[in-house]
Amino acid sequence: MTTTFHTHSELETEAVGRGIALKLAPGAVIALSGELGAGKTAFTRGAASALGSYNVSSPTFTIVNEYLGGTLPLFHFDFYRLSGEDEVYDIGWDDYLERGGIIIAEWSTRAPGIFNTEDTIYVDISIGEFSEDRVLRVTAGRNAYSRVHAD
Ligand SMILES: Nc1ncnc2c1ncn2[C@@H]1O[C@H](COP(=O)(O)OP(=O)(O)OP(=O)(O)O)[C@@H](O)[C@H]1O
Ligand SMILES: [Mg+2]
Repeated sequence: MTTTFHTHSELETEAVGRGIALKLAPGAVIALSGELGAGKTAFTRGAASALGSYNVSSPTFTIVNEYLGGTLPLFHFDFYRLSGEDEVYDIGWDDYLERGGIIIAEWSTRAPGIFNTEDTIYVDISIGEFSEDRVLRVTAGRNAYSRVHAD
């Protein structure tokens, strides 16, 4: 099922992220896509705030940032500079899935094969007609809101 949100400011995109994060169970995975500047980090910042994690910045140079101080751990990935899917497995992707946190991955289309479609919430953000317009298409797999080590 796909739900579409239209936002008109960075704060509104953060609010969509916050609303979705409030519904997540431990082990949830959000795969973000959308061009440069679409609002993937803004969405993540909102989601993080719902989990009690703040000061989110893009992990472009490290692939993953861990926020462990909130109600659930948040693992914020950015695959923009990824050389291949192997690199994601090498840094311990399977372990991250089992750590009972929330995974949010920017540039998820750089490593599409690592996501289990039934367990993943896909959020694609596109830029609309006006400079601050964004369209967020949220498509959730069957188990995406109830993961808790569903595998
Ligand atoms: N409706 C909106 N939602 C989100 N961001 C918006 C919106 N309108 C304008 N912006 C601006 O767009 C930019 C979004 O930046 P952000 O870093 O979140 O994008 P990103 O998708 O993470 O980019 P990158 O691919 O570089 O990681 C910010 O400068 C923000 O102020
Ligand atoms: Mg970003």
